[in-house]
Order: sequence, then structure tokens, then C-alpha cells
Amino acid sequence: MIVMKDVYKKYPNGVVAANGINVEISRGEFVYVVGPSGAGKSTFIKMMYREETPTKGDILINGINLGTLRNSRVPHLRRQIGVVFQDFKLLPKLNVYENVAFALEVIEESPKQIRKKVNDVLALVGLTQKARMFPNELSGGEQQRVSIARSIVNVPKVVIADEPTGNLDPDTSWEIMKIFEQINARGTTIVMATHNKEIVNTIKHRVIVVEGGMITRDEYEGEYDYES
Ligand SMILES: Nc1ncnc2c1ncn2[C@@H]1O[C@H](COP(=O)(O)OP(=O)(O)OP(=O)(O)O)[C@@H](O)[C@H]1O
Ligand SMILES: [Mg+2]
Repeated sequence: MIVMKDVYKKYPNGVVAANGINVEISRGEFVYVVGPSGAGKSTFIKMMYREETPTKGDILINGINLGTLRNSRVPHLRRQIGVVFQDFKLLPKLNVYENVAFALEVIEESPKQIRKKVNDVLALVGLTQKARMFPNELSGGEQQRVSIARSIVNVPKVVIADEPTGNLDPDTSWEIMKIFEQINARGTTIVMATHNKEIVNTIKHRVIVVEGGMITRDEYEGEYDYES
């Protein structure tokens, strides 16, 4: 599903944020990416949806080689990957329903299909009652649920999340994790960078530790544990 081979990333300012990353993530896996601030977790994640390109090395996502992928094909790649951010990134002028519908390729879908898909996904995240509300009328947890609904409405094979609970209180964070667990149970691969030790040590999954741009540990049912 996701393969990285000898991946290096040096930013223009000289910072090496990925220093020889080799990893394989299979279909249906749930992977936490942990490590100290500045370790390279976001860089690792951004390279998967080609927000950043590696300086050296190969990345394959579901058979697509990101190194040789034409820019015109990046939207095709992004349709196969759902992305969730710490700060939600919702469109403020669109309501909940519209924020989710916007992510669908409207040209290819009938209005009836779009309504069904959006309503189904809003039901999954428990927001049916709030479909007509705007982002600034929602709590942080609700906004994150909208952003998750948006990320999965295209039924992507992979969902990538960069600290999705970073701005949420502990109770809300557990609620959000329940939704990710449900999505994963349906067969979607999840890659999640997080600083939430409680969650990583309670809901057990594969744990990849990134330190200084390198993977220093990689264990199934791993622990949140690294030298900071
Ligand atoms: N666009 C950029 N240009 C230059 N340097 C960058 C850029 N983005 C990140 N870096 C640097 O690359 C290194 C890794 O950053 P990255 O954001 O991947 O870390 P992180 O593990 O996600 O940290 P955090 O836990 O704080 O989110 C850091 O030293 C950072 O300053
Ligand atoms: Mg980060």
C-alpha cells in the first residue's frame, strides 16, 4: 500500500528532515507515527500525498510512483488519500454538508448520489443534525468530525492524519479515535502522527518512532516511547 525506499528530504534551508527512511505499510494497517517535535513526522506524512517531494529515494502509494507522477495526476493521487489535519482546514463560508460535498468530484456524480454519500458519511461521524451549521458554530471536536467526513467521503484506501487530536481535549480525542477505529475496521489504512501517549498506549497498533529524520523503532502493538 505504502512503500518508501531510501527516502531523504533536505529542505532548501539545509535541514534534513528525512534521513534514509525505509518502510512498508500494508493495506488495512493502522500505524501511529510518534517522536519528538522536529523529528520529521509531518515531513514523512506530507511526502505521502506529495505536499513535499523527497530529495532522494522512491515512494509508492497503492502502486503509484510519486517520483514519476505528473503534476496533472496529483489530483488522482489525492482522491485515493484522505488527509486530516490538526487545525481541521474547513472552508469557513460553507456549511457542514457543503464542506463534505465539496470534496466529491461533482462532475462525475449525480446530485442524488452526492446527497447519499454526504448524508451517509455525516451519519457515520454523528453530525446529521448539524449539516446546515457553519464551521464557526461548531466545537473543535465537531469540526474535526467534519474534516474526517470530508477525508473519507471519496472512500479512500488510505487516511493520513497529522495530529488529528492535537487541538482537542481528552474526552473529545477519544471520540475522534473511535471514528478512526471504525474507518480502519472497514479496511481503510490509517497513518496517524500523534503526541498523544495515552491513546497510543491504550488503543494498540503498530508504532513507528521517528527521531532525527530516521525510523528508530517500528513495532506492532508498540509503545509510545522515545528519548526526547
Ligand atoms: N517547509 C520547511 N522548510 C524548512 N524546514 C522545514 C520545513 N518544514 C519542516 N522543516 C524542518 O524539518 C524538521 C522536521 O519538521 P517536521 O515538521 O517534519 O517535524 P515534526 O516531527 O512533525 O514535529 P512536530 O511534532 O513539532 O509537529 C524540523 O527541523 C523543521 O524545522
Ligand atoms: Mg508535525
